[in-house]
Amino acid sequence: MTSSDRTIVITGGTSGLGYECARNLALDPRNTVVITGRDATRTRELAATIGAHGMALDLSSRPSVGGFVAELVAADLPPLAGLVCNAGVQFTGRTLTSDGMEATFATNHLGHLGLVIDLLAHFTAPARIIVVSSGTHDPDQFTGMPHPLRATARELAYPPPPTESAQRDARRRYTTSKLANLQTAYHLARELAPHDITVNAFDPGLMPGTGLARNASAVQRLGWKTIARALVVLPGVRTPRGSGADLAWLVAAPDREGITGQYLVRRTPVRSSAASYDERVQHALYGDSLELLAELDARADR
Ligand SMILES: NC(=O)c1ccc[n+]([C@@H]2O[C@H](COP(=O)([O-])OP(=O)(O)OC[C@H]3O[C@@H](n4cnc5c(N)ncnc54)[C@H](OP(=O)(O)O)[C@@H]3O)[C@@H](O)[C@H]2O)c1
Repeated sequence: MTSSDRTIVITGGTSGLGYECARNLALDPRNTVVITGRDATRTRELAATIGAHGMALDLSSRPSVGGFVAELVAADLPPLAGLVCNAGVQFTGRTLTSDGMEATFATNHLGHLGLVIDLLAHFTAPARIIVVSSGTHDPDQFTGMPHPLRATARELAYPPPPTESAQRDARRRYTTSKLANLQTAYHLARELAPHDITVNAFDPGLMPGTGLARNASAVQRLGWKTIARALVVLPGVRTPRGSGADLAWLVAAPDREGITGQYLVRRTPVRSSAASYDERVQHALYGDSLELLAELDARADR
């Protein structure tokens, strides 16, 4: 054991929001911070620069999730008290994992749900899980993004070929995954309340300049990095540093103890989309997602 009180894991801590959240948390000596990234060496080196631990994790791969959990447990760090499900991808065309699953759903939703389930036995209560969603999940917010699909988890995991442009389909897969993040957060909040594990969701706002546009064209990436940064004066547009501080507060602040099932913008609870509150749909998504995870695990064991 080290001298710090608790361990907090942030998925996707190598850039953007996750990095800023981790950097902020690591300033407090009571926190042992673990960040993850797909490249083990790069993640370890980057983590060392902010006083964190770095471990490899690819959420689109069940064996990688298992490897990460084993590495975390073997590291014998202080009690696990926080998990920030932050990592996220947005593609510009149909992209599949090595298992043949649609990669946005597999990474943003299913990978995180599998990670939460694999870590459950390792949390020390009271513990907190924060799920990073996005205002783009909500059709009433006019974000310019396509509305989320209404489909079963299996249909989202193994979709038919796109019926609209590949780019628009990929963007719709993103907003759908962010709705799934919220639906899962609300479901887990109810399931885990008896275990003194709280689950809340967070919208970081539009943060131009992060790596989220890494799969876009060169022109689109240039726009994301330069012109879009000028938009920071507009309401709803944030910097990774500002939203990272809010996210760190959400997972660590004493005054958030015991509060569960909320969706926050900055530090304020807000309503998410009407669709996100349908408990029957939340339950079905959760059950079907567990089945998909079991199938992936069975395939990996063969
Ligand atoms: N940027 C925005 O405007 C915005 C708005 C609303 C919500 N969000 C949400 O905020 C979160 C963070 O986004 P960001 O803008 O900070 O993006 P980012 O800079 O691209 O960071 C994404 C992180 O996810 C990791 N990652 C990518 N693919 C992964 C995979 N298959 N398995 C595990 N980790 C993976 C990346 O690490 P490696 O590449 O090192 O693996 C990176 O650290 C996401 O959930 C996103 O949906 C962003």
